[in-house]
Amino acid sequence: MHRDVVDQATTIRPRTEADLPGAAAALVTVHAADGYPVEGVDDPQAWLTQDGVLQAWVAEKGGKIVGHAMLSRPQGEDAVRMWIEQSGDTADHVAVGARLFVTPEARSEGLGERLIRVAFGYAQGHGLRVVLDVMAKDKAAIRLYERIGMQRIGTAKHTYGEGQEVEAVCYVSPEAST
Ligand SMILES: CC(C)(COP(=O)(O)OP(=O)(O)OC[C@H]1O[C@@H](n2cnc3c(N)ncnc32)[C@H](O)[C@@H]1OP(=O)(O)O)[C@@H](O)C(=O)NCCC(=O)NCCS
Repeated sequence: MHRDVVDQATTIRPRTEADLPGAAAALVTVHAADGYPVEGVDDPQAWLTQDGVLQAWVAEKGGKIVGHAMLSRPQGEDAVRMWIEQSGDTADHVAVGARLFVTPEARSEGLGERLIRVAFGYAQGHGLRVVLDVMAKDKAAIRLYERIGMQRIGTAKHTYGEGQEVEAVCYVSPEAST
């Protein structure tokens, strides 16, 4: 029996308003599988559209959103303060990396790396270093950040809910090559 080959090519592209329901659905599956984000996903679309978004991207496979990444302007994050102290740079040269996730069925295909590299490209094009923090428990993300050459700048406590605390590791993107 002949079966049509379904094109499963994955596209990484800037997020549009129309992508939000699909990105929110993807986030709900990631939270169920990995407990990311630790805060929970009561209102996933609000969590993906916080103030200060510079640019967000999605990974789309077979018409479905399977991944997401975002850059935001700094808003008092410990990781940014740490980087400013260490580098002597100013916050207007920083973009905060956030909301990186890939749904479990689309993992280990390089999508996480492609998403973060697209964000790096945008940041470099705008003269920005990417600073982010990652929960120490999110080991796959830590492996990814270290594999692509992000530098560890310290650790912080991430507080959420009613006084709950988890350890976070803070990173900065590699310096742009000239
Ligand atoms: C972190 C996360 C985004 C990584 O997504 P991903 O698409 O699986 O990432 P990649 O495919 O680039 O890399 C994952 C692994 O696949 C491997 N890989 C990449 N391409 C591959 C391929 N073609 N064939 C086989 N393996 C491959 C990578 O080497 C890596 O291996 P490792 O885990 O042993 O280090 C994903 O695990 C996730 O959503 N986690 C939960 C949310 C989270 O923690 N977010 C972090 C926010 S700070």
